[in-house]
Amino acid sequence: MEKLVIEGGYRLEGEVSMSGAKNAALPLIAATLLTAGEHILHNVPDLRDTRTILALLEDLGVTWRRAGTSLYIDSAGLCNFEAPYDLVKTMRASILVLGPLLARLGKARVSLPGGCAIGARPIDFHLQGLQKMGARLDLEEGYVQASIDNRLSGTNIYFDIPSVTGTENLLMAATLAEGTTVIKNGAREPEVTNLVDMLVNMGADIEGRNTDRLTVHGVKQLKPAVTETIPDRIETGTYLIAVGAAGGKVTLTNCNPAHLPSLIEKLRGAGLQIEESENTITVSRPGPLQSIDIKTQPYPGFPTDLQAQLMALMSIANGLSVMTETIFENRFMHVAELKRMGADIRINGNSAIVKGIEKFKGARVMATDLRASASLVLAGLAAEGTTEISRIYHLERGYEDMTGKLQKLGAEIKKEKE
Ligand code: EPU
Repeated sequence: MEKLVIEGGYRLEGEVSMSGAKNAALPLIAATLLTAGEHILHNVPDLRDTRTILALLEDLGVTWRRAGTSLYIDSAGLCNFEAPYDLVKTMRASILVLGPLLARLGKARVSLPGGCAIGARPIDFHLQGLQKMGARLDLEEGYVQASIDNRLSGTNIYFDIPSVTGTENLLMAATLAEGTTVIKNGAREPEVTNLVDMLVNMGADIEGRNTDRLTVHGVKQLKPAVTETIPDRIETGTYLIAVGAAGGKVTLTNCNPAHLPSLIEKLRGAGLQIEESENTITVSRPGPLQSIDIKTQPYPGFPTDLQAQLMALMSIANGLSVMTETIFENRFMHVAELKRMGADIRINGNSAIVKGIEKFKGARVMATDLRASASLVLAGLAAEGTTEISRIYHLERGYEDMTGKLQKLGAEIKKEKE
C-alpha cells in the first residue's frame, strides 16, 4: 500500500489541466452495452473506477482499447449478463450495467451493492423503475436477477429524491423500450446531460435535456457514436479549493465553470478571486478567508462531492461555518481526521459546525473514502509541518494523477510505500 507525504506551507502557482469526469465516463462506458459496434469516447480519465467498469465490460465479452484519453469500445461480443460480486463490491456504480443489459439482452444478473462508507445508498429506485417498465426481478444469493420476455415498456417514473445513477440507468433502459417513458424529478447533473447527448447521438429520441423531466420515446435499434466526456467538475472544484487552502494563483484549463455555479459563488464569498472564461478558471487568494455556510443539494445546488473539501477550507477561515449534508447520512468521516490536524468541528445531526482555526498542524491521517481523502490532501497543503495520508487507493479511484498535478503547481507532495 502507498501513502502520501505532504510538506505543508507551499503556495500553488501555475497552470494545470482538468481531466474528464469520472461520474460522466462511468455511465457513458455502460451505455456502449446498448448496441454492437465501435463506440468512441474521448477525454476519458484513467482511474481505478474507469478501469473497474472496463474490467466488468470485458467480463461481459466487450473488447476495448485506449489511445491517450480516448477509448474505443466494441460490445459486439457481449455474451455474458452477470456483474459479479467481486467487481460490484469495489465500485457501486457497476449497477449502471443493469439497465443496458436488460434492454439489449432481455436479462441481467447484477450483484447488489452493499452499504458504503458514506451511507446505506439503496438502489430501490433503479429496481422499482425497471419493474414498472415490465421487468421481472428476483433476489437470489445477493444478486438481483432481472428479465423480460420481449422489450421493456414505456411508463411514468417519479423519483422521490433525484438519483443520479438511478436516472442514468432508467434512461438507458428506456431508449430501447416499447413506447414512451417519462422520468419526473430525475437528476439533472451535467453528467446526466452528457449521457443524454451520447444516447441522442446513438439514435435515441429524448426530450427535456438539462431538466428534471426527461421524455424518452423508445426506438428499436441504436447505433454506435462518438462522444466527448465533460470535464470533471468535482476535480475542478477540488483544485479551486486547494488554492484557497494553500494560497497562490492558478489557472485551471479544460474545465467548465458553468458546471460549478454554487461553488464559484460560495468561494467568492469566502474571499477568493475567481475569473472564468468558457473553459478556464483563474483562482487566487488575495486576503484572509471568510467563513461561509453551505447545504448540499442536487444539481445545481452545492454538490455533496465537494462538502469534505470545503470543510477543510472552512477549518482555516475566519469565523463559524455551518455545513449541512442532505444527500448522504454518513458523509462526515473526514471530520475525525481533520480534527487530528487541529480542526475545531462539532457535528450536530446532519450539520457540521466549523470554527476556523489559524492553521492545520501536520499529522498522520487515514483516508476513508474518495472525497474525504481529497479533503485531507487540501488540509495537508495548508498545514504547518508534515502530513502523512494512508489508504490513498481511495484517492486514485477518482483523481487522475493528483500527486503529479499538485507537484506541477509547486506543492511538496510525494507517494511513498507504507
Ligand atoms: N437513493 C435512494 N434510493 C435509490 C437511489 C438513491 O434512496 O435507489 C438516495 C441515496 O441514498 C441518496 C440520494 O438518493 O440519499 C441520492 O443518491 P444518488 O442515487 O444520486 O447517488 P449515486 O447515483 O449513487 C452519484 C455519484 C456520487 C455522488 C451522488 C450524489 C456516480 C457514479 N456517483 O451517486 O459520487 O455523490 O451521485 O451527487 O455518479 C463520488 O464521486 O465520490 C460519489 C460518491
